[in-house]
Amino acid sequence: MSTRIVRTIGDEILKKKSKDVVELSDRLKELIADMKETMTESKGCGLAAVQVGVLRNIIIVQPEEGKEIYTFINPKITYMSDEKEEGIEGCLSVKGKKGIVERPKKIRFTAFDEDMKESEYEAEDFFARIVLHEVDHLNGNLYVEKINGRLYDTEDKIPGFEDDEDEKDNK
Ligand code: NI
Repeated sequence: MSTRIVRTIGDEILKKKSKDVVELSDRLKELIADMKETMTESKGCGLAAVQVGVLRNIIIVQPEEGKEIYTFINPKITYMSDEKEEGIEGCLSVKGKKGIVERPKKIRFTAFDEDMKESEYEAEDFFARIVLHEVDHLNGNLYVEKINGRLYDTEDKIPGFEDDEDEKDNK
């Protein structure tokens, strides 16, 4: 395993759409292991393959710090609640910044795991937010295009969100 370089805003690859994985080759397994190491070292809670320069529909998500890192291959959102919620987001590809993004509170999605077994998942709140942020990456979109208000520096306090400031928000 090794860490990989995280591509940052301005890099054209971040605007490209990723492609579905058909077979999980040894190369892709190594990619997933490297993504986990890269995300952990960067203190992130989510990462999409495109962020390390590979245009494949693979995301990893860690909703709780220090706990399980989920791998979702070819994730497809199947339901989004009408109820929405604002929350703070940051991104390992947009270093030192954060902003408020409104997203559905609950989602359902299908994805394959590392054994290429497909399941349907439900997620809400922070978990749903990370999945949606990462799926945006797979579609070539960054959260900075959908923020409410302006982009803040990571150390800024955002009015109305002071209590959320400890939340790990780098995706
Ligand atoms: Ni991100």
